[in-house]
Amino acid sequence: MKVIIDTDPGLDDAVAILYALNEPRFDVQAITSVAGNIGITRTTDNALRLVAVSGRQIPVVQGATGPLSGTGRNEETIHGADGLGGVTLPLSPNGSLSDATGFVAKRLMAEPPGTLTILALAPMTNLAILARDHPQAFARVGHIIAMGGAIHEKGNAGPFAEYNIGADGLAASIVLGSGVPITMIPLDVTRRFRATLAELEPLRASGTPAGTTAASLIEAYFLGSARESRPLHDPCVMLMALAPELFGCDEMRLGVDLVEHPGRLVPDASRPPVQVAMRIDAVAVKRMLWDGLMRADQP
Ligand code: BDR
Ligand code: CA
Repeated sequence: MKVIIDTDPGLDDAVAILYALNEPRFDVQAITSVAGNIGITRTTDNALRLVAVSGRQIPVVQGATGPLSGTGRNEETIHGADGLGGVTLPLSPNGSLSDATGFVAKRLMAEPPGTLTILALAPMTNLAILARDHPQAFARVGHIIAMGGAIHEKGNAGPFAEYNIGADGLAASIVLGSGVPITMIPLDVTRRFRATLAELEPLRASGTPAGTTAASLIEAYFLGSARESRPLHDPCVMLMALAPELFGCDEMRLGVDLVEHPGRLVPDASRPPVQVAMRIDAVAVKRMLWDGLMRADQP
């Protein structure tokens, strides 16, 4: 499956990226960075370092420096000042490219329509700029699978807003109204996909770069939290792409409240339908994620 990962690493982004780069069923064409959990310089550098951990040559392309709406909002209390909870990853020998949306537009025009999937782990700023500035290319996107939103769950960036939607509500509104095939994975599912510290042992024992690094990153996710388990939001996107049968989706038409509760997803009958994951076989999905991170024969 040809994919582009749009991301703001971010601890859970980092685990998702390590999994994708260790998984032969993904043909990762590029990683595009966006400002989100932390500023753009950090998210880009973190993406480069994660590629270095994988030992692969994947382009990292820097994207938007800030949201289309709102002022942005760092999540340093969760992801640390460096976005990776203080987990030191190797410096990349490579630099990043610039102009993420131009890069993705070119890739979309070079591939047959409908064959490129975007795995969206962050505020949707890059995707909205792509839709606005390169509409012909954007219409060729095969599928956007995005972590974002809260349907019945309370928010994690306000009473109703989930972080990725709340950090750039206008961008999410543009993307959700675009009519390209979209599957959203909201907090209703990702909060049910959790890791405990005890579960990290096999990852560490695997000795694989992806497994051991993921164990450190997930452990860092517990810093400053007294919780017994932590949600693995962004990896759900990768698993949905490979094993949609492990999730249950409902069709919805969604807009984004930009005024009263900015970032709240609201039903909107005038919008095109999107799929929204509302159920997950968390045991099977965890097995897949762990197996993938511990895979020794890299792609
Ligand atoms: C989302 O917000 C970010 O902090 C995480 O990386 C994830 O993409 C969860 O709401
Ligand atoms: Ca993220």
